[in-house]
Amino acid sequence: MASGTSVQARWEEHRRIFEGFLEGVEFSEDPRLSRLVEAMRYSMLGGGKRVRPTLCMEAAWVFGTDPLFVLPSAAAIELIHTYSLIHDDLPAMDDDDYRRGRPTTHRKYGEAMAILAGDAFFGEALTLITVHQEGTAEQVLEVVRELADSTGVNGMVGGQVIDMDHTGIGDGTDPETLHMIHSYKTGALIKSSARIGAILAGATADEQAAISEYASELGLCFQIVDDLLNATSTTDALGKSAGSDAEQGKATFVGIYGLEGAQRQADNSVGRALDALDTIDGDTSGLSQMALFVRHRAS
Ligand code: IPE
Ligand code: IPE
Ligand code: MG
Ligand code: MG
Repeated sequence: MASGTSVQARWEEHRRIFEGFLEGVEFSEDPRLSRLVEAMRYSMLGGGKRVRPTLCMEAAWVFGTDPLFVLPSAAAIELIHTYSLIHDDLPAMDDDDYRRGRPTTHRKYGEAMAILAGDAFFGEALTLITVHQEGTAEQVLEVVRELADSTGVNGMVGGQVIDMDHTGIGDGTDPETLHMIHSYKTGALIKSSARIGAILAGATADEQAAISEYASELGLCFQIVDDLLNATSTTDALGKSAGSDAEQGKATFVGIYGLEGAQRQADNSVGRALDALDTIDGDTSGLSQMALFVRHRAS
């Protein structure tokens, strides 16, 4: 893509290209698996902001690589994100009926299929990377390592467990644990999305460190804003349940710091993300715009 393309046009282009790629991902043509494939496609193609894959594409662009190059990894990230949403909505977890403006996967296909569709996404994500991602063997291994680290015990799943353990007693959560929940359950995958784009683009260790700092703050801010929207928006506007965090007694920034306090924390976090970009010697205007989008998004 030409470097003169406006920032907004570049994001739209990432998104358009990504949607086309995801639409073309095939899992099986065997009719005996058609219901599983239908449930997976229902979950992954039903909307979604595509923040993580487009962030991965933009990070690659910043370090001089064609965003098309990272598409298999970007899709793998989105499949893992989709799996996390399906499982997060299950009755055993947040017990939500709506997601992306439609019935949740378990409401549409039943709990067993929702669990298995989520599980299948993880395997398919690994296939996308190990079979379809080009790059050196070291780079591909690094991508797998990033995803494994950010989604396992010390990442998304660990964060979900601590979130669950604090459900019902959310406001009694200490700030350090609250910070950990948000950074683990949401921040880690957002951070690795940007890191994966940088790794595949051959970014230096210093560049990777800067992008990591930016994306850690972006990820934290993302979940603080999720808390804010849950407290202040409507189910129609969000396409998922509003007000559910307070009802369930979740550990949130709004619950612990109040609305204004949470807004301040989101502002501080975005400020730190923007500061981290200063040390990168390239066109980071798209990453700045993403930070502002994450802070001010309405859904
Ligand atoms: C929602 O993520 C779940 C969180 C980790 C906060 P997104 O807000 O990125 O959801 P979609 O993909 O746009 O639906
Ligand atoms: C979702 O957190 C985090 C993951 C799915 C890993 P939440 O439960 O706060 O997100 P929403 O509000 O349901 O999207
Ligand atoms: Mg949850
Ligand atoms: Mg939830």
